Amino acid sequence: MNIVLMGLPGAGKGTQAARIVQELKIPHISTGDMFRLAVSEETPLGLEAKSYMDKGQLVPDRVTIGIVRDRLNKDDCSSGFLLDGFPRTVPQAIALDELLQEMSRKIDAIIYIEVEQDELLRRLTGRRICRDCGATYHVVFSPPEKQDVCDHCGGELYQRNDDRDETVAKRLEVNVKGLQDLIKYYEPTGRLQRIDGKQSIENVTKEILSQLRGVQT
Ligand code: AP5
Ligand code: MG
Ligand code: ZN
Repeated sequence: MNIVLMGLPGAGKGTQAARIVQELKIPHISTGDMFRLAVSEETPLGLEAKSYMDKGQLVPDRVTIGIVRDRLNKDDCSSGFLLDGFPRTVPQAIALDELLQEMSRKIDAIIYIEVEQDELLRRLTGRRICRDCGATYHVVFSPPEKQDVCDHCGGELYQRNDDRDETVAKRLEVNVKGLQDLIKYYEPTGRLQRIDGKQSIENVTKEILSQLRGVQT
């Protein structure tokens, strides 16, 4: 199944993606994670992406579309994929449709996790990530058993650079506009499904999986 997961920063895309791909056994493709890896490895892509990410801005479409194209052409995507955080502009959505058409494939489901902005601010500023395995925590909503230590691998937890207060506000502003345009683009396809993201992490997963079970591929 080919799935697009949409939602504003902090809506729970990464949290839900990790759970869904485990269930469906498909690769999790997060453009944000790919950029962060490139930043940590100090590749040319990473250096370019960092200048935008640190300011809460979007990385230019040509760069983002290029990395997704390369990734979708890898063998492990042949039986399906879950895109987390891509597309987030209409030109990216058009490029994705064209790319899938070239591959004789299509998007089967578009899941939009809806959460209001006050809650997003709380989620982003309290988020912590494992430096080693990438697991996501929240200091209040989803704390690790031992402070600042990953439950899964014992790695150190850190705060993302772009989760500082001043960058968070900018990220939300930039993404709200893009998301509204994307919804207008996808709504007529009849494949867009809205999920109430304010529920518990477990219940959001249950609802997404139940929606996906009803999708014809
Ligand atoms: P990206 O990494 O994708 O960041 P984002 O879109 O801002 O989304 P987040 O990862 O912040 O939020 P999330 O929805 O994954 O939430 P999470 O599950 O972690 O992108 C980073 C940057 O890269 C962008 O700003 C841009 O510069 C660039 N970029 C990436 N893709 C791009 C593209 N397509 N085009 C251009 N540029 C691009 O959850 C958040 C917190 O809430 C966690 O602490 C979690 O534990 C908690 N939480 C989750 N669910 C719940 C719940 N149900 N109840 C309570 N707490 C919850
Ligand atoms: Mg994420
Ligand atoms: Zn870990």
